[in-house]
Amino acid sequence: MFRWLTLVFAIAWPASTNAGSAAGGAGTPRPASAGSDTLREPPILVNQSSVPRTVEVSLIAAPARLALAPGRVTDAFAYNGIVPGPTIEVHEGDKVIIHFTNRLPEPSTIHWHGLHIPADMDGSPLNVVPSGGRKDYVFTIDSGSAGTYWYHPHPDVRTGYQVAKGLYGAFIIRPAHDPLQGIPERLLILSDNRFRPGGSIDIPAVHTTAAIVDEENGREGNVMLVNGQVMPRIAIRSGEAQRWRVINASASRVYRLAIPGQTLLQVGSDGGLFEHPAVVKDVLLSNSERVELVVRGTGAPGSTAMLQTLPYDRYMPQTRPDDWNRPHNLLALAYTTEAPVAPVSLPRTLRVIPALDTARVTARRSIVLSQGLINGHTMDMSRVDVRVKLGTTEIWTIENVVGMDHPFHLHGFHFQLLDRNGVPERDRRWKDTVNIPKHESVRFVVYFDAHPGRWMFHCHILDHEDHGMMGIFEVT
Ligand code: C2O
Ligand code: CU
Ligand code: CU
Repeated sequence: MFRWLTLVFAIAWPASTNAGSAAGGAGTPRPASAGSDTLREPPILVNQSSVPRTVEVSLIAAPARLALAPGRVTDAFAYNGIVPGPTIEVHEGDKVIIHFTNRLPEPSTIHWHGLHIPADMDGSPLNVVPSGGRKDYVFTIDSGSAGTYWYHPHPDVRTGYQVAKGLYGAFIIRPAHDPLQGIPERLLILSDNRFRPGGSIDIPAVHTTAAIVDEENGREGNVMLVNGQVMPRIAIRSGEAQRWRVINASASRVYRLAIPGQTLLQVGSDGGLFEHPAVVKDVLLSNSERVELVVRGTGAPGSTAMLQTLPYDRYMPQTRPDDWNRPHNLLALAYTTEAPVAPVSLPRTLRVIPALDTARVTARRSIVLSQGLINGHTMDMSRVDVRVKLGTTEIWTIENVVGMDHPFHLHGFHFQLLDRNGVPERDRRWKDTVNIPKHESVRFVVYFDAHPGRWMFHCHILDHEDHGMMGIFEVT
């Protein structure tokens, strides 16, 4: 813990992160009484460029000695020496230049999860950076893409390992005009891990029972972390509203987020804000998905509420963990003793999301997920599984034919869900990942408007992906 703190402060923690006055305005300053707030957010990478509308930053992936298990320093991998890695913050329309140096003892890449950018900048397994190598990722941020994204390594077969060692970070895109401007923001990167008694990462040896269970379930850890911390505290004043950007960076743990005793206002998901806020009691967040919530301080001054993950059965019965049916605390919401403030009112319409035109659909695809396979195959780096014509709109049906959930992710292109098990989706949302529950199916529409090249689709349970639950689609 101490080491983590030291490192964070040693690496430019810009004054703007605390004051929330970072470019684009992360919100209003924390109230003075928020002394019981212990949630640390990764520092925002300082822009090295003085060119307008250009963000230029550097990321170095390297081995580091860090306490991934609080209080126990061990061998980890880190971006710029910290876990989670620093947050990259940009605006719509910005040109982004990221100088990546791979000082890991193995090949890696950085994948910009959810970004609509040229295929050779996607950091997919087709474009690995060797140990000791460098790559400049250069791309432009689309207008209308404001939202919460993240970055992680994506080398073939080693993604789960590198993420478990500590490589993941947030990527925030801000719009020119934010309808929720002025609401204080918090970033919550959820992850979990499993440690040996000394604090090293517990990855079981191949062919052991534990390894087989991990391969089936995906590797879950009993230590649940928010921004690398166990049970941090967020201070809130009664009546105050806070905007939480939440990222599921876990290899396989699916969260069903709730604050018992309060409802949540869901305002966005993978591809940014919804058209209209939705009141929910809980929200399911599968691997790699993001959610934006407005948490309203409906509790009494001095009281405490818990952000929990509620039981959710994504498992095969044979390998279901013992504690799957118990809620777990993730973070405490600590009400200050200050007198309540009047609740803020939020806009009813956050933005307009144009509907993709299903009348223009020129191809329909069927993707069948079974245990470890997509359409009966494991990943082959030299095989193209799906050929797509540039400029066309398609409907994909993703069907899960087995008794455990698989979160399906498409690189490079956001889609709009049409229906789940034939039941039409009520709200239009931009998504890049959708959980397909056991024996269910989902249809989405996607427009391949730009960026020809080879792209990945895969299950985002990292163990499944690494064991071959991935395919390639080529846009030409
Ligand atoms: Cu989070 Cu292939 O991606
Ligand atoms: Cu991705
Ligand atoms: Cu899977």
